[in-house]
Amino acid sequence: MITRAEAIDLLKKYNKEEFHIEHGITVGKTLRYFAERLGFGNEADYWEIVGILHDIDFELWPEEHCIKAPELLKDAGISDDMIHAVVSHGYGLCSDVKPELTMEKVLFACDELTGLIGAAALMRPSKSCADMELKSLKKKFKDKRFAAGCDRDVIRQGAEMLNMELDDLLQQTLDAMKSFA
Ligand SMILES: [Fe+2]
Repeated sequence: MITRAEAIDLLKKYNKEEFHIEHGITVGKTLRYFAERLGFGNEADYWEIVGILHDIDFELWPEEHCIKAPELLKDAGISDDMIHAVVSHGYGLCSDVKPELTMEKVLFACDELTGLIGAAALMRPSKSCADMELKSLKKKFKDKRFAAGCDRDVIRQGAEMLNMELDDLLQQTLDAMKSFA
């Protein structure tokens, strides 16, 4: 398996915008947090690398998101199970590969949600989620005009896949992002 540093280099090979690189790193760290929390601590590196790589094709091939990724990842020697995980995060949107593993469901649930939390953090005087409460995140979640690109239905669907209450998913993802804010 490649290392975290190699995964970041691979992400940077196809992504030059800071926003995209940061997003990969944030989702990676969030997955690592959930791995440890959900009893998959021995797979934490694996989860984080999937998170780092999940949007590898998005900057250059937005129209072929999740379609171009397998080719790029295969070229880099990434394993088929990691490719499955990456492609499954676009389930119902740009892929028909269903998230099956817990890791895949967490990726599906947290991808849009980390974006929402990040956008909400930027609205705060602190520019950080470190002092954000669940209540204010819920308000942002309900405000459809706020960060409209973050698909609330995907987040709801992700919580369902994980058999989690929506509030619980919001709280845990917020806690994850606070842990490395
Ligand atoms: Fe993403």
